[in-house]
Amino acid sequence: MTPSLVEAVPKAELHIHLEGSLEPDMLLALAARNKVDIPYKTADELRAAYDFANLQEFLELYWAGQSVLITERDFYDLTYAYLTRARQDNVVHAEAYILPQGHTPRGVPFAAVLDGALAAFAEAQRDFGITGGLILGLNRHESEDAALDVVRQARPWRDRILALGLEGPEKGNPPSKFVRVYDAARDLGWHLTAHAGEEGPPAYIVEALDLLKVERIDHGVRCDRDPLLVRRLAEERVPLTVCPLSNVMLKVFPNLAQHNLRRLLRAGLCVTVNSDDPPYFGGYVNANYAQSVKALGLTAAEQQRLVRNGFEAAFIDDELRERYLGDLDRLWPAGKA
Ligand code: ADE
Ligand code: ZN
Repeated sequence: MTPSLVEAVPKAELHIHLEGSLEPDMLLALAARNKVDIPYKTADELRAAYDFANLQEFLELYWAGQSVLITERDFYDLTYAYLTRARQDNVVHAEAYILPQGHTPRGVPFAAVLDGALAAFAEAQRDFGITGGLILGLNRHESEDAALDVVRQARPWRDRILALGLEGPEKGNPPSKFVRVYDAARDLGWHLTAHAGEEGPPAYIVEALDLLKVERIDHGVRCDRDPLLVRRLAEERVPLTVCPLSNVMLKVFPNLAQHNLRRLLRAGLCVTVNSDDPPYFGGYVNANYAQSVKALGLTAAEQQRLVRNGFEAAFIDDELRERYLGDLDRLWPAGKA
């Protein structure tokens, strides 16, 4: 089938967890290579387990799956595989979460995690020109001191890390827990983002903006319970890195037709489309676009706006942003369906 225009054009992906990009086949191959015992024998058995009542149920499987990642080579292979797959969807710029706290407690050296992932980004850029970088993820259910320790350990890589982010179980773990960590990351010159308003209340989005001073919000879809916040997000053009298939799989919305992506876009918010944890949620970025277009009846102008927003929200300099937006405008002139 020929891809639609939105699938064919160059795009940015801003919300993807490298550990959440672990395909069942690679998970089983790494378990064999590293002699890690896992309770699944086949990729189909693993896929059958991808059925979640909520975020917590997903996180438990996602954390268990990470146990097969041990060596620097594993992190390289994982990252290179994601970037190769993203390229098939015409992703030209990817900003990806990596979670050291998912690995160091098992004895994996911090350097293996970061060096493996960074080497894959560098190689993929040499091989096919993709740009992007790493978002250092923090487990929000762990303590602020543990998070500060992650930032301290990451200092030798400070110039090669793009941003700091917050992930994990949201309810009961408000952004206000991490003010000192975000202050430290800002001092290191990193960009700042955080998951907020996925399962948690609009107040967590406000905290992320006002206390952590984040530049964008991961998910953020629950903002619609607070009309004043929706207005603020539109006025300040705070990007939301929305992940439609993830939101359906984790029961944030009952189905894609009831997702608020279109309403938020129409309210003037800088909504972007992303994949979060693609094998777990049934699709990479193009599947997120294509299925949202179909379920929500997005117009050509709305689709184009979503792709433009991805570059508008990317942590890149203005020269690269203008280059990507110019490439997009040439391939998809305004008004073309
Ligand atoms: N880690 C990986 N995916 C996540 C999500 N959707 N929410 C919170 N933490 C995550
Ligand atoms: Zn996420």
